[in-house]
Amino acid sequence: MTASGAVLETRALVAGYLPEVDILHGVEVRVAEGEIVTIVGPNGAGKSTLVRSICGLLPPRSGSVLYRGEDISRAKAHAIVRKGVGYVPQLDNVFVSMTVEENLELGAIARPGTQLQERLEMIYGLFPRLAERRRQRAGTLSGGERQMLAMARTLVPEPDVLVLDEPSSGLAPTLVAAVFERIAAINRTGVTILMVEQNARRALAMSHRGYVLDLGCNRFEGEGRELLEDPKVIELYLGRDPRGVGGRRAPRGHEAGA
Ligand SMILES: Nc1ncnc2c1ncn2[C@@H]1O[C@H](COP(=O)(O)OP(=O)(O)OP(=O)(O)O)[C@@H](O)[C@H]1O
Ligand SMILES: [Mg+2]
Repeated sequence: MTASGAVLETRALVAGYLPEVDILHGVEVRVAEGEIVTIVGPNGAGKSTLVRSICGLLPPRSGSVLYRGEDISRAKAHAIVRKGVGYVPQLDNVFVSMTVEENLELGAIARPGTQLQERLEMIYGLFPRLAERRRQRAGTLSGGERQMLAMARTLVPEPDVLVLDEPSSGLAPTLVAAVFERIAAINRTGVTILMVEQNARRALAMSHRGYVLDLGCNRFEGEGRELLEDPKVIELYLGRDPRGVGGRRAPRGHEAGA
């Protein structure tokens, strides 16, 4: 893949929160049109920091973020959404006191001109459980349903790219599978996906390509399956635990199959 073919790309990205403490040290990731790309790495590696920088929530100190070749490193978050990059944060991603449909309606505000009714129909087709619960408050949804709602709301303004920070976080294994299955379905509608995941094995198994980030630096990159089979990646980041990545020296586990 050529750099120019990338929908989303970071070049030598440096970012951080506190003065003089950089968290990202020149991170480079590329996402091509139609791909699912997953970023994995231990806790504190800088994965959320990276996606927050990409989405305009944490301006980079140096380096750049390119969207279809355009430098968006200095663009505000709302402007980036309008360009077509949707972001689903790791936590607190729905309004609990509002109904499912009200949450979805809010999604339309992000991009003026959104054909709300058409989008709702499309989204309810993709998430039938949300259609059934459209009048229910988001606070009454299960964890998996909330995650579906957060993704659905971000889809309302018709993004070209969906950036997901740990979509399976805190979910029971059966719900994890359901969320990943919906992500694949979203991708099949033509939406490019960049996601961060702790559930590394499963996520890499469904990804075209992946990156391993550690201590704010690129460590490995490759096709999803290539990374899953790389002995160094397994030793350092996946462990034997099929759920992978959280513990670097994970105890011997039972391969559950991705
Ligand atoms: N608002 C903040 N202010 C200061 N430091 C922060 C802030 N947010 C994150 N950090 C620090 O930045 C580093 C990277 O954090 P980040 O949340 O990007 O990691 P992560 O890879 O997403 O981890 P996790 O897997 O636990 O979600 C950590 O050392 C963290 O303590
Ligand atoms: Mg994180």
